[in-house]
Amino acid sequence: MSGKKVTTTQLLSRKHSPEKIAVVTAYDATIAGLLDAAGVDVLMVGDSLGMVVQGNENTLSVTLEEMIYHCRAVARAATRAHVVCDLPFMSYQVSPEQALVSAGRLMKEGAAESVKLEGGEIAAASVRKIVSAGIPVMGHIGLTPQSVHRMGGFRIQGRTLDAAQALMNDARALEESGVYAIVIEGVPSEVAESITRAVNVPTIGIGAGPGTDGQVLVCYDLLGMYGALSPKFVRRFRELGGEIGEAAKEYVAAVRDGAFPAPQHSFSMTEGEKPPQV
Ligand code: KIV
Repeated sequence: MSGKKVTTTQLLSRKHSPEKIAVVTAYDATIAGLLDAAGVDVLMVGDSLGMVVQGNENTLSVTLEEMIYHCRAVARAATRAHVVCDLPFMSYQVSPEQALVSAGRLMKEGAAESVKLEGGEIAAASVRKIVSAGIPVMGHIGLTPQSVHRMGGFRIQGRTLDAAQALMNDARALEESGVYAIVIEGVPSEVAESITRAVNVPTIGIGAGPGTDGQVLVCYDLLGMYGALSPKFVRRFRELGGEIGEAAKEYVAAVRDGAFPAPQHSFSMTEGEKPPQV
């Protein structure tokens, strides 16, 4: 491992630093390399790839093999950023043993440096099992997309006192089980802030307000390339979707009218050679 790599122990120590942790999802080597070079701390190979890469309505159909494939591509390009990979739906919920086997595959075959799973108290035994094998785990509570059908859609969680208390218990259970960080997704800002104060591991927010120790965004949202869903919490830092459309239109026009390829994009035979006669 390169000495420049962001590690989970460094991320843990950022809990008490004023500098927040910047996390972005990535699914391929090209985007991962650009994000890595830009100074992103953590590249998250999220199962959101089921939606933004594969075009599904939710993340449920993503397989462990698909996560391994995308993680390997991202890991190749990550020279500095830490690489965390999601355990997809039904690759860890059955038992702690199943969770460990799946986490091991993400590390061995996908070159992940840590794994993420959804759930609080319910996932604690699996977190303990994975961590005891030397694999760092990131938790994920609040709006957990793999439970989309139980939640009745992608809905904000923790809006009542009881629900907020349950999230606090989830965060504490994950911390006690040994996670190095917790994603808090889709909860009121006050709830995320109070969980952040209560636990000694960094919290990474998405749709959870400004009071967490870091933020995560889906890369296609950040870049303005994904339009199927546009939740209130997303900030599109660029509108590359429009740029891509314009570039593609210019390409189509250049091919149709013969302006591309121009001489500078073409090759010639060795001097003095002639093409075969027909
Ligand atoms: O799958 C994913 O990309 C995620 C993040 C958005 C937190 O879980």
